[in-house]
Amino acid sequence: MPNNNQAGKRENARVPRHIAIILDGNGRWARKRGLPRTAGHAVGAETFRKIATYCRDIGVEYLTVYAFSTENWKRPEGEVAAIMKLLGKYLQEAIDTMERDHIRMKVLGGLEELSPELRAMVRKTDEISQRYEGFQANICLNYGGRDEILRAARRYAADYAEGRADADLTEEGFSEYLYSAGIPDPDLLIRPGGEVRISNFLLWQCAYAEFYFTDVLWPDFGPEELDKAIAVFNSRDRRYGGVK
Ligand code: FPP
Repeated sequence: MPNNNQAGKRENARVPRHIAIILDGNGRWARKRGLPRTAGHAVGAETFRKIATYCRDIGVEYLTVYAFSTENWKRPEGEVAAIMKLLGKYLQEAIDTMERDHIRMKVLGGLEELSPELRAMVRKTDEISQRYEGFQANICLNYGGRDEILRAARRYAADYAEGRADADLTEEGFSEYLYSAGIPDPDLLIRPGGEVRISNFLLWQCAYAEFYFTDVLWPDFGPEELDKAIAVFNSRDRRYGGVK
C-alpha cells in the first residue's frame, strides 16, 4: 500500500502510457525456496495480476508482458505444460471479469501453435475487448520480435503482390502489419531478474522506449518496484534523437 508521500510524488509525475515487462526470475525465485520452478511461475502469474491492477489504477493505458517466447518451447515438457495451464487459468479469469471491470486483453504472438482451448479463449477475449475502451493488458505468447517482423514483412509482400498495398510503405504503415497494430509503442520497458538484455522482445516497438533493469525477481516485483521504475523513467530526458 503506497503511503501518502509516494502517492503525492506520483501525482506530479508522468505515468508512462505504455509499460512493457519481461517476466523473468520465476525459476530462481522458486529454487531459492527449494520449490519446483513451476511454483515460481504460479506466483509470477499472481504478480502479473497485481501489477496489471496497479497499472490500471494509476492510469497506465497499456501493459504488455512477455510471458512465453518462441524459444521457450525448448523448456522441459512439464514446465511448458504448467505455464500453458496457468495462462489458460488467467485467460479464463479475464474472460469472467473483463466485462465487469471493462478491461481489454490481447494476446500477441503466433496463435496457431497454441492449443485449441487457448485459441478459443484468445478469440473470446478479443471479442470482449472490442466492446470497451480503457486499460488494455497484452500478453505476449509464443512471441518473438524477429518472428513478428518477418511475419509482418511476409504479409505486406503478399498484400503488395495482390495489389492491396502500394510500394511507398511507411513506418506507420508497416506497424499495422505487426501483432501490436493499433497499440502505441512502449514508453518504458522493465526487465526484472537481473539480466540486461532485450531477449527478442518488441524489437520494432521499443525503438525509443526507456529501459529499466532491476535484480528483483519477478515474483517479488510489487507496486513499490513499479513506482521506482516510473520514478527513474521520470528522471530521463526523452529526446527521440533531437535536442531540447
Ligand atoms: C521467466 O522466468 C518466466 C517465464 C518464461 C514464464 C512466465 C509465465 C507465467 C508467469 C505464466 C502466466 C503468465 C501470465 C501473464 C498470466 P524464468 O523461468 O526464465 O526464471 P529464471 O530465469 O529464474 O529461470
